[in-house]
This record gives sequence, structure tokens and C-alpha cells, in this order.
Amino acid sequence: MRVDIVSLFPSFFNSIFDQSILRRACESGKLEVKLYDLRGYCTDKHHQADDYRFGGGAGMLLKPEPCHRALEAVLTGVRPTPLVIFPTPQGIPFTQDIADELARELHLVFLCGHYKGIDQRVIDRWVDREYSLGDYVLTGGELASSVIIDAVVRMLPGVLGDLDSALGDSFRKGRLDSPHWTRPETCAGVGIPGILKGGHHKNIERWRRLTAEFLTAARRPDISRK
Ligand code: ADE
Repeated sequence: MRVDIVSLFPSFFNSIFDQSILRRACESGKLEVKLYDLRGYCTDKHHQADDYRFGGGAGMLLKPEPCHRALEAVLTGVRPTPLVIFPTPQGIPFTQDIADELARELHLVFLCGHYKGIDQRVIDRWVDREYSLGDYVLTGGELASSVIIDAVVRMLPGVLGDLDSALGDSFRKGRLDSPHWTRPETCAGVGIPGILKGGHHKNIERWRRLTAEFLTAARRPDISRK
């Protein structure tokens, strides 16, 4: 998968793609990332990327021209046309189903907003999808883009060592994941549920399903299946 990121703070992503699974995805060629510095597309004397909002009110907005130029540079002549994603609190909720769907794309472009957001004309002209991570406001789109990229890239074939483990993740089958334990069997005087030691796979599977359903009903009645 190819991922292009348009951002005022491209160095933010160095630490993201330098770690663990995303790093291995890059090294193995399953993920190719290109960063575009929005500042480089500001042509005025002071390289100003933001401005006040028409109509007044606190908070600045990313100016349209640098965004237009950057996205033109990213998208012109590129086939098949990539999907352009703009993370924003005004977007539809980002979910595991959407991560699975995006993992089937060949090329994603992320536009990172800042301050109060981006001039609406940029969104209208270029953006295909607007996603929100939750009902709170982050300082910038870099963090939100990183979260979406992480959730998508781990679903690319061959990126996770053990796909079965992803299939048992929270939100699959409409429920949270069950709790898990590893060695040692007793730690600080606390043991583990005896059923997990028996090696009876059918019973273990049933126990995990029941604990997961119980947890989901208690914590996330909104996704709990009756
Ligand atoms: N940018 C700022 N806050 C955000 C959120 N909650 N989700 C997605 N993008 C954002």
C-alpha cells in the first residue's frame, strides 16, 4: 500500500514509522510512505499556512492555496485515483470495519488539519472521506492520521505475524476481546483462571466468548449483541 501524507509537521511521523509493526511493514515493502511538507507549498514571503476565519471567531484555519498546491502535486496524473482522507471531529466515526475496507485500497492520501481546521473549499475539491476518531478534539490531524494508518496497515496481508490474533481483536464479532494472561502462572501471589490451563480448547473458546460477551454488555452496551 502507498500512503501519502500532507502535513504542516511531517517530522511528527518519523517516530510513528520508525517503530515495530509499521517499521517492518515499510522495510518489507508492504507499506510505502511519502511525506509532503505543507509549508513548502506556501509561496508568500512569510510562508504563512494559516489565516483568520471569515465571519470571525477564535481559531485559525489552514489557508486553501498551499493545500490545493500540495494535493495537486500528490494527485496529478496518479492512477488509479487514490482515496483522500481528512481526519476531523466533523467526520463519520472511524471503525474497525472502515479500517478493513481501507486496507483493500492500493493508495491512501491523508490531509492533516490544524488549528480550527481547513478551508472548506479544499475539502469540497479533494476529500473523499472524513473520519472522526471520537467525540473529543485533538490538537492536529497528524495524531488522528497516525491512528487510522496504524489500524489500516496492521490489516494488510502479511503485516501481522499471526492473522488469527487480529481476527480475535475487539470489535470483531460485535464484541470486545476477552482478557488474556501469560507466564508466569503465579505473579505477585495472583494466579490465572484454571480453565486456561486445562488444554480443553472447546471449553476455553466458550469461556473466552462468555467473558467477552459479559465485558461487552457491561462496558459497551452500544455494540453488545443481544
Ligand atoms: N482532529 C482533531 N480532532 C479529531 C478527532 N476527534 N478525530 C479525527 N480527527 C481529529
